[in-house]
Amino acid sequence: MLVHIGKLINRHMLGKYAVPAFNTQDLETTLGIVRAAQAQKAPIIIQTSVGALEYAGIEELVGLIKTEARQARVPIALHQDHCHDFNLLKKLIDLGYSSVMIDASHLPYKENLKLTKQVVAYAHKRGVWVQAELGRILGNEDWQNVKSGEDLMTDPDQAADFVAQTRIDTLAVAVGSMHGIPIDPRIKKVLTTLREHIDLKRLAAIRQKVKIPLVVHGASGVPDAQLRAAIKFNVAVFNIDTDLRVAFNKALRANLKKNPQIYDPRKLLAPATDALQKVAEHKLKVLKTSNQI
Ligand code: G3H
Ligand code: ZN
Repeated sequence: MLVHIGKLINRHMLGKYAVPAFNTQDLETTLGIVRAAQAQKAPIIIQTSVGALEYAGIEELVGLIKTEARQARVPIALHQDHCHDFNLLKKLIDLGYSSVMIDASHLPYKENLKLTKQVVAYAHKRGVWVQAELGRILGNEDWQNVKSGEDLMTDPDQAADFVAQTRIDTLAVAVGSMHGIPIDPRIKKVLTTLREHIDLKRLAAIRQKVKIPLVVHGASGVPDAQLRAAIKFNVAVFNIDTDLRVAFNKALRANLKKNPQIYDPRKLLAPATDALQKVAEHKLKVLKTSNQI
């Protein structure tokens, strides 16, 4: 069933388990995610990026997710990922999103505060949650490419001030994980073996000062033990996209190679959807989301 995000993320689950926010842009990914949640009896968040909405069409993609979510036997909340376009967020709120992310982390602090406050005022009036980001999450995501540097990490004191001033519902923190996976330009290959690192000390310091649920973006590529450890520091949501994409890609390429005679897209895509589902199920076990409905 399609539910408000507040049904999934609350103070009772903080520190005990987390809910993955899986990105989708198409039917196969959506099916794989929903099937995984059902198989694991797990609540999940399905989120769209601006790029995904551009790719599939807003009404088309939102309609698809809402239809799948309504028919599912598990609670599913709809969230908009990184977005700095207030007008688009207004449209998505009208379409039934229960949570949106205003990502003004590329702006100077005061401007991030100002825009975030405006979105919170608008969204809260309509019962919708707001996530915002402080610090900058490394890597590639839609319109942004953030390169490394310690000063990009979330500062615990600034985070406390930001949350108090904006009254956001969830805070995306930059604690070392990365969006996407880097491509080695020499061999033109994705570095799938790269292991990312979460700065648990920084996370603990943020938890001391910030009481709202935290969100870790770029959770793909982070070792399972680190994801699990981060739950204790009030990380209630982990954003996962790349690991699903990699699994889908790998299975699709293998199928194409092994079965060049197949021309039915359904037969080409089904094993890839299954592979994606398997990875999503694994994440649900790691985050202890399984059997939480
Ligand atoms: O907002 C989306 C996520 O942060 C995706 O992270 O590229 O590590 O899967 P990922
Ligand atoms: Zn992200």
